[in-house]
Amino acid sequence: MVKRKIKGIMKKYVVTGGAGFIGSALVRGLLGLGDGSVEVIDDLSTGRQQNLAEVSSQIAFHQVNICDFDAIRPVISGADTVFQIGRASCRERV
Ligand SMILES: NC(=O)c1ccc[n+]([C@@H]2O[C@H](COP(=O)([O-])OP(=O)(O)OC[C@H]3O[C@@H](n4cnc5c(N)ncnc54)[C@H](O)[C@@H]3O)[C@@H](O)[C@H]2O)c1
Repeated sequence: MVKRKIKGIMKKYVVTGGAGFIGSALVRGLLGLGDGSVEVIDDLSTGRQQNLAEVSSQIAFHQVNICDFDAIRPVISGADTVFQIGRASCRERV
C-alpha cells in the first residue's frame, strides 16, 4: 500500500528513440507532467542529442542500441512505463 503510494508520487519513464523527432517531443511532454524521472535510450543513429539540449539537465541519457539487452536491462529496470519510439524489433538477434 505504502509502496504503491510512493510509486504514484514519483514515476520512472523510459523513452527509446528519445533523441529523435517524436521521442524528444514525448520526453518534453513527460517532463511537463512533473510526476517522475525520464530516462532516454538512443543510439543516435538518426537522432541528435541536440534535440534534447534544453532538457539535458533533467534527464538521464543512455547512448545504447535497444537491441543490446544487457545494456538496457538496468535502464528499464523498475520503469513504470517504457515508450518504444526507436525501433519496432531486433530481429537480427533472434
Ligand atoms: N515523424 C513522423 O511524422 C512519423 C509519422 C508516423 C510514424 N513515425 C514513426 O515513428 C517512429 C519515430 O519517428 P521519428 O520521426 O521520431 O524518427 P527519428 O529518426 O527522428 O527518431 C528515431 C530515434 O530512434 C533512434 N534509434 C533508432 N534505432 C535505434 C536503436 N536500435 N537503438 C536505440 N535508438 C535507436 C534514432 O537514433 C532516433 O533518435 C519511426 O518508427 C517512424 O517510422 C514517424
